Amino acid sequence: MHTREELGAMIEHALRHMALPAQPEGLYAPIVYTLEEGGKRIRPLMLLMACDLLGGDPRAALPAATATEVFHNFTLLHDDIMDNAPTRRGKPTVHVRWSPSTAILSGDAMLIQAYRLLMQSPAATLPAVTGVFNTMALEVCEGQQYDMDFESRNDVTTDEYLRMIALKTGALIAGALRIGALIGGASESEAATLARFGTDLGIAFQLQDDLLDTYGDPAVLGKAVGGDIACNKKTYLLASTLALAPTKTKKDLALIMADRRIDPDDKFVRVRAIYDALGVRELTERQVTAYFDRSLEALDSLPLDAARKAPLRELALGLMNRQK
Ligand code: IPE
Ligand code: IPE
Ligand code: MG
Ligand code: MG
Ligand code: MG
Repeated sequence: MHTREELGAMIEHALRHMALPAQPEGLYAPIVYTLEEGGKRIRPLMLLMACDLLGGDPRAALPAATATEVFHNFTLLHDDIMDNAPTRRGKPTVHVRWSPSTAILSGDAMLIQAYRLLMQSPAATLPAVTGVFNTMALEVCEGQQYDMDFESRNDVTTDEYLRMIALKTGALIAGALRIGALIGGASESEAATLARFGTDLGIAFQLQDDLLDTYGDPAVLGKAVGGDIACNKKTYLLASTLALAPTKTKKDLALIMADRRIDPDDKFVRVRAIYDALGVRELTERQVTAYFDRSLEALDSLPLDAARKAPLRELALGLMNRQK
């Protein structure tokens, strides 16, 4: 078994020593900038931990783990254009620092690089690993499309929201765990249980992300807050407000959301005041706990030695009250 620190060091080393050309600089410099330290690396860590848990060699899973992190960062480059986000990990986003065209093309190159890395997985596992990765990648795109579609709808339910985040965020975490399990030699039932752990953990993780976008400290988070409210994102906060608010509040909210000329800071303060009055922050926090609990139940149900599951359990527990 390996410690989180050992696995983390393997990931950083692999990301830093990825074979990328230097030229054209306009294509590759934004990739290096994005992959520099700063991310939590939870997806590749989970992939390596799943492999290690089953008695596999994490070094065999390292290219797939690196692929997962490169893919995640590719989604962020495009997501930051879609969400008009100015900062990430305490630095200007690629589309701001360079241009939207750069973020699109460097993101495309990262997607290709992710597949190049994935192809270095052990040959016997490659068909299954590629299948899981492809399904996961499409699910992320589907989730991102629903996320955008929901911006212009005011009847999104909390169930629709939960299905959307299971795709945009849960799929990658579940996929990483499933790939690590496959390379580690898991049975289908072990892989499915780890994937269930990942989906629920991913849902809890995105619910927290939404809470932090409204209630977080940008200095700690490394991202600007208020972007979700500015874009009329149907977060759990907003979907439950639409379900719970009295008619008058709902009308006020609809007017605020439809007002294209409203000052974003003013909009943020007014929408947050509605959330506070309805207690949807606490409601969302309870959902975070519920999904964390469900994810840990899935992990606990895996019929393997508790000591072997400890790194994954601790990683999940460490995310529970995250502020970044
Ligand atoms: C950000 O993911 C995108 C979401 C799914 C919320 P992370 O919070 O894992 O981002 P980094 O990689 O640690 O910066
Ligand atoms: C991101 O969700 C999910 C993906 C990138 C697929 P968000 O848009 O909430 O993530 P942040 O807040 O920008 O990191
Ligand atoms: Mg987004
Ligand atoms: Mg975003
Ligand atoms: Mg967010």
